[in-house]
Amino acid sequence: MVIKPMIRSNICINSHPVGCAKDTARQIAYAKAQKAKRGVKTAAEGGYAPKTVLVLGCSTGYGLASRIAAAFEYGAETIGVSFEKVGTESKAGTPGWYNNKEFDREAAAAGLKSVTFNGDAYSDEMRTQVIDEVKSWGKKFDLIVYSLASPVRTDPDTKVMYKSVLKPVGAEYGGASLDMMTGKMSTMSAKPAEGDDVANTVKVMGGEDWERWMKQLSEAGVLADGVRTVAYSYIGPKLSHPIYRDGTIGAAKKDLEARAHTITKNLEGLHGAAYVSVNKGLITRSSSVIPIITLYLSVLFKVMKAKGTHEGCIEQMERLFAERLYTADKKVPVDEEGRIRIDDWELDPEVQAEVDKIMAQVNEANVAEITDLAGIRHDFLNINGFDVEGVDYEKDITDMTALD
Ligand SMILES: NC(=O)c1ccc[n+]([C@@H]2O[C@H](COP(=O)([O-])OP(=O)(O)OC[C@H]3O[C@@H](n4cnc5c(N)ncnc54)[C@H](O)[C@@H]3O)[C@@H](O)[C@H]2O)c1
Repeated sequence: MVIKPMIRSNICINSHPVGCAKDTARQIAYAKAQKAKRGVKTAAEGGYAPKTVLVLGCSTGYGLASRIAAAFEYGAETIGVSFEKVGTESKAGTPGWYNNKEFDREAAAAGLKSVTFNGDAYSDEMRTQVIDEVKSWGKKFDLIVYSLASPVRTDPDTKVMYKSVLKPVGAEYGGASLDMMTGKMSTMSAKPAEGDDVANTVKVMGGEDWERWMKQLSEAGVLADGVRTVAYSYIGPKLSHPIYRDGTIGAAKKDLEARAHTITKNLEGLHGAAYVSVNKGLITRSSSVIPIITLYLSVLFKVMKAKGTHEGCIEQMERLFAERLYTADKKVPVDEEGRIRIDDWELDPEVQAEVDKIMAQVNEANVAEITDLAGIRHDFLNINGFDVEGVDYEKDITDMTALD
């Protein structure tokens, strides 16, 4: 079968196995090149580096890039957890399933231990599996990356399933949205949160589950002295605040950020620390369904590419490891609220002033010219395994589990 992308309203419902594997390989090659460029030493080489790393949400976006940086730049053995549809010979899996397969294949080739679990990271059963696995290695985690993004979460105690929503709080929000494939712009409006919307979104995307992971790992005795954990947040530009930072999802992110302090307190005995890293806005499977964000990112990428400061997932995560988490003086630079900021180049006032100027002029007739529509479209296709350099998209794919 020849596989072509099937896309509607910024959602791609299929994937290309070879393209996903190739894009993962590209990120791995970048991490390896950065190791050489920066002169990074793994722990085995006597460097300051994580040795045994757990990545929750390891299959795509920021989680995948974190795992790649930990393994291929810092030499860590990794356990990854994600929830993806498994591919079979005749049926395609989701992109993350292919990404994981390629990660495990390259890790094995490089002599790096890696185990990937496919299942619900919010469940205590998954926590037990991970704990049993790391115990069987005779190792303890020194870094836990929390990079889950999901619209639903089942509370392990009550078995109630909560749903997160993307809504403003207090007043209706209207903003322009951009269809990445057609370039069509439309106005979307979102009604304000009501009832339990905020509480439910906090339950799914807040820090409760992160704290539970750290508590159970600690009680199981699988955390090393000096352990670190990091979860990801977003702040973004003012124009998106009503729907993002000040909306239901922002309430969840604020909860996540507050929990970092609680987790750090709980890790005192281990001299550990929990951080939230505020990352740059990028096209991932989660962010491409947030309407105003796609138009904003199209403008942002144009400005940042012109300035030479544009980064993708792997560039962001590589910088997080090298310039924030594993610095020469072993100190983690943070803002006044204790957060790591790698959204610094995105929120650079000069960049934002330029973005504001373009946002005021953009319309359907000029969007392809004054914004980076082609760039975000390429990224969107890429995360589903399409438009990846070096892939023959006319080739007949007979086995949907084959990576090349
Ligand atoms: N994309 C952005 O622009 C951006 C910016 C800043 C921060 N962030 C944050 O980074 C984090 C990761 O987001 P992303 O954009 O990389 O998302 P993504 O959709 O690419 O990745 C989400 C990951 O979570 C996993 N997952 C979802 N539900 C699961 C479950 N029940 N059990 C196990 N795994 C599950 C998926 O399999 C995948 O590995 C989120 O906290 C997000 O808010 C994203």
